[in-house]
Amino acid sequence: MDKLLNVNGLRAGYGGYDKVKDVSFTVAQGEIFGIVGESGCGKSTVLKAVMHLPASGVVVTGGSIVFDGRDLKALSPEEFRRLRGSELCMVFQNSSSSMNPIRKIKKQSYETIKSHRDISKTDAYDMMASVFEKLGLNDFKRIMNSCPYELSGGMNQRVAIALAMVMEPKLILADEPTSALDVTTQSQVVDELRLLREKFGTSVVIVSHNIGVISKMADNVAIMYGGRIVEMGRTDKVLKNPLHPYTRALIKAVPKLNAETLPAGLEGNPPQDCRADMGCAFAPRCAFCSGECKHMEYSMTKAEDDHYFACAMAAKGEDYGKCAVVCQ
Ligand SMILES: Nc1ncnc2c1ncn2[C@@H]1O[C@H](COP(=O)(O)OP(=O)(O)OP(=O)(O)O)[C@@H](O)[C@H]1O
Ligand SMILES: [Mg+2]
Repeated sequence: MDKLLNVNGLRAGYGGYDKVKDVSFTVAQGEIFGIVGESGCGKSTVLKAVMHLPASGVVVTGGSIVFDGRDLKALSPEEFRRLRGSELCMVFQNSSSSMNPIRKIKKQSYETIKSHRDISKTDAYDMMASVFEKLGLNDFKRIMNSCPYELSGGMNQRVAIALAMVMEPKLILADEPTSALDVTTQSQVVDELRLLREKFGTSVVIVSHNIGVISKMADNVAIMYGGRIVEMGRTDKVLKNPLHPYTRALIKAVPKLNAETLPAGLEGNPPQDCRADMGCAFAPRCAFCSGECKHMEYSMTKAEDDHYFACAMAAKGEDYGKCAVVCQ
């Protein structure tokens, strides 16, 4: 079956500098795909490139993005405007900032729906009611009659998800939708995002720093570092048997509930630039780096079906055991 989203060799950045390079992944219909990585590794840039948000300053300089059989780079601004919001939607970390804080949700949802469909206020209201019901959200009337400034961050986030869902898009791009929320609300929002797939068959690309959120939600995951994907595959395989030292370090850095001390974080900072001639971008921070890593070209190795990684050392079978010792 053709995938809903095919990103192939994507290069994108700002002001003439590529921040994302050679990024390739696919998302099937109804799939939840996670993207994880430290701050600045290019997660949001990938989403903004797919969403083609000119106001964000992101420029796609190479590769292809094919959504539902259409080459997104070939669409006119008007075609893209029609696609955005109806078939392809984005939910941001702090969604209330993308809504007018002093305009009632009722009015804002009507305007959103009206921009894609000729519809009466009553029908638009009913459409929102139906999404709220499917997502199991209560208090519909009060929320519709409130302005975003009158609602909690968690409730605004859920309104944003409902608004993104109202046109029943095929794909939602969610950029850290739970980061600003407390753990209980986080868990509710995660459940609601999962419900989208169940009730609407929606595909979701979710970016998160939280490996727990990704492990609960995503079917497949990509670990990004320095603008590239360094490991990718089925979430259970990648998180239970991480092959790239960076993935291991990320997992190791997750605090354990019953631990007396916090785990040591990864020392150093991710690179701001990731040139092709720099070899493995993680080499300067990698406990298992050999001299040759510094000159290796980026390439993905297949570990098994649904599991790929980009580490020259891990790719050498005999060295991999040492890698596990050093990095675990
Ligand atoms: N509008 C912009 N103009 C110039 N550079 C930008 C812009 N937005 C992001 N960048 C740079 O692009 C790189 C990737 O940023 P991006 O926002 O994609 O990272 P991220 O992985 O989403 O990080 P975070 O987890 O902090 O959200 C960073 O070096 C960042 O400084
Ligand atoms: Mg980001």
